[in-house]
Amino acid sequence: MTDLDDALAASAEAVEAELDRLLAREDAPEKRLVEAMRHAVLGGGKRVRPFLVMETATLFGVAEQARLRTAAALELVHCYSLVHDDLPAMDDDDVRRGRPTVHKAYDEATAILAGDALLTLAFEVLAHPATHANPSVRIELTQLLAKAAGAHGMVGGQMIDLAAAEAAKRGEQLDIGGITRLQRLKTGALIDFACLAGATLGRAQETARGALRGYTHDLGLAFQIADDLLDVEGDEAQVGKKLFKDADAGKATFVSILGPDRARDQAGRLADQAAAHLGVFGPEADNLRALARFVVERKS
Ligand code: IPE
Ligand code: IPE
Ligand code: MG
Ligand code: MG
Ligand code: MG
Repeated sequence: MTDLDDALAASAEAVEAELDRLLAREDAPEKRLVEAMRHAVLGGGKRVRPFLVMETATLFGVAEQARLRTAAALELVHCYSLVHDDLPAMDDDDVRRGRPTVHKAYDEATAILAGDALLTLAFEVLAHPATHANPSVRIELTQLLAKAAGAHGMVGGQMIDLAAAEAAKRGEQLDIGGITRLQRLKTGALIDFACLAGATLGRAQETARGALRGYTHDLGLAFQIADDLLDVEGDEAQVGKKLFKDADAGKATFVSILGPDRARDQAGRLADQAAAHLGVFGPEADNLRALARFVVERKS
């Protein structure tokens, strides 16, 4: 185990416990909804986004409870995005994190509602005084996450992704610029929040924020190129989701346009570039530097 593996595992364990607390089982008529939310969130996933929150918050000496609650809120939004992404109306996937998707384990209506409830829970968590004593910090976090998740962030990217697949059926393919923009929205926006939330919690100076903006800009794109590579050359059991979905749906990705070798090179370059932005920090940012490599070398 490397230092990064240890740090990822420790952070994932703490985040899992926080998520478990936030999604407490209850014996109410809506219990099925809570069970579906727990299915979507608990016991799986790499927890890369919460790790980014935890690590960047550490750079600015943020308290444990603030880091954990913010990390958990972001993971709730991410898990909601996966539940909806897997629905028949979107990517129509049956397996996620090596388990049946929520609409398979429950049903479509429950999956839609579970996604809705995860999204709103995330904002309830951020807005709660336990997340930060200072209300302006909580408002800033809430705005940042709303923007990252919304029409000009993740959801907007998902819309372009679907539109691009439709256009591909008419023989119109996005070019590299179009794909870059799509991926910066659908995947990059939440990763940007992950990297900047710590700076917001810690009221960081502009120099540090600028460095993190540079880091996340390259990291988010590298992360999605790695996801697209895993779709064509991953091991299905390890990846935990069905492969060859992008090509089957006619989706243009860095891999479909550049081919796997050049896409891998590009992801590697972006990872190096991401790490290079962290020069203003000392060894306290070593986990973030190592994470840039992990993101492009991961097998799941
Ligand atoms: C998958 O994200 C969806 C993308 C935005 C590429 P992750 O690869 O982080 O999925 P989990 O959370 O580890 O399952
Ligand atoms: C989904 O991208 C990104 C989200 C916002 C959920 P993908 O559709 O490529 O993610 P996977 O491959 O299903 O995890
Ligand atoms: Mg998708
Ligand atoms: Mg998908
Ligand atoms: Mg994918």
